[in-house]
Amino acid sequence: MNEEIRQRTKWFMEDRFGMFIHWGLYSIPACGEWMMSQKEMTIEEYSKYFDQFDPVDYDPKKWVCLAKKAGMKYVVLTAKHHDGFCLFDSKLTDYKSTNTKAGRDLVREFVDACREEGLKVGLYFSIIDWHHPDFPKYGDRQHPMRNNPAYKDEKIDFDRYLAYMHGQIKELVTGYGKLDLLWFDFSYDDMTGEKWKATELIKMVRKYQPDVIIDNRLEGAGDNHGSITTEKPLIYSGDFASPEQIIPPKGVCDDKGEPIPWELCATMNNHWGYCNFDHQYKTPQMLVRKLVECASKGGNMILNVGPDARGNIPEESVQILTEVGKWMKKNGESIYGCGISKLEKPDWGRYTQKGDIIYAHVYETPLGALPLYGIGPDKLESVTYLADGSEVNRGEAWNTVLYPDVAFVSFGDDPVFTYPLPDEKDTVLKIRLRQE
Ligand code: GLC
Repeated sequence: MNEEIRQRTKWFMEDRFGMFIHWGLYSIPACGEWMMSQKEMTIEEYSKYFDQFDPVDYDPKKWVCLAKKAGMKYVVLTAKHHDGFCLFDSKLTDYKSTNTKAGRDLVREFVDACREEGLKVGLYFSIIDWHHPDFPKYGDRQHPMRNNPAYKDEKIDFDRYLAYMHGQIKELVTGYGKLDLLWFDFSYDDMTGEKWKATELIKMVRKYQPDVIIDNRLEGAGDNHGSITTEKPLIYSGDFASPEQIIPPKGVCDDKGEPIPWELCATMNNHWGYCNFDHQYKTPQMLVRKLVECASKGGNMILNVGPDARGNIPEESVQILTEVGKWMKKNGESIYGCGISKLEKPDWGRYTQKGDIIYAHVYETPLGALPLYGIGPDKLESVTYLADGSEVNRGEAWNTVLYPDVAFVSFGDDPVFTYPLPDEKDTVLKIRLRQE
């Protein structure tokens, strides 16, 4: 990884946990942000949602406070999704929130709220646009008009689209103060890299926002990292890989085997945009453990919420994030700034590590004492419960003498007895090793 990326992504790799917000006109039909494409809707058909859009409860401060409460350190909002509708006051289109009943620049209020609460600010921007007349339609992989023969011989001026797209990004990087992260989405087939005039685009972005962190999707997508993993990343390869709805089995490394920054993007139920019939929510326990998994593999997790048409984050999401936040409040130290441990993954859970401190994330109740794999009994300086700082008892006993190479701890005062784990989601032990 080059030094510039390492420096730039420092805060990001420390912060580990962010909130993704998918919100736009699609919150009205409430079946996800791909609806226009899935139902092959014309712009006219879809425009009824533009006429209806009236998020009376929109208060980004509430969203940002929820993120903060959950232990998230950065927030990324969809300034524009594939449907082309802008939540910001773009001078280059009328298809924007200021021209709806909302009547406001919703991105500006969001950005202000993040800064007020001290969270890092990110904007998602779709480089695909199903509203713009010069975006390829017939035969495109996902355009709503891909099967409509009326567009078969249509002449478009793709350069005009690119000027529009670059122009909107310029508005975002010049009009909203310092942005911490830009999340472009996404490349496919030959619609990648220079097709988007990506070099020119990145040069422009970097001119105004030299430190902004950028994802890898000007070149790649969820199914393709692009050249970020190669020895010669391009100027537009991005600062981090963006695996989608999957935790890479071994994290993400470059061709030399060196870990590179990555961020899992994941939904809490099975949709990004608000979906009123999808109640398949992941549990707080599962989400805590997935966050731990990401950190233990050197990556981040950005977890999505899809606010409804009034501007409220679904109650299920609020409750789950509140639970996750309770765990993070006590155990966040084992996530922030932590990464891959030098110790192998233990069978009862995972290790994360920060400097010389090892955090044991225990998921499975041990029968009797718990073996701290990879740590010899004489190497252990101290073990405490991260949640309350209290001491964890050593677990060596008459029946552990058969395993002299491993240190043991006990969750009670008799290591031969079995005790329930103090925290079912993830009991974290903070381990200090004796320095040689
Ligand atoms: C996908 C989808 C999109 C979503 C994104 C988030 O590429 O097109 O709807 O915004 O992933 O990662």
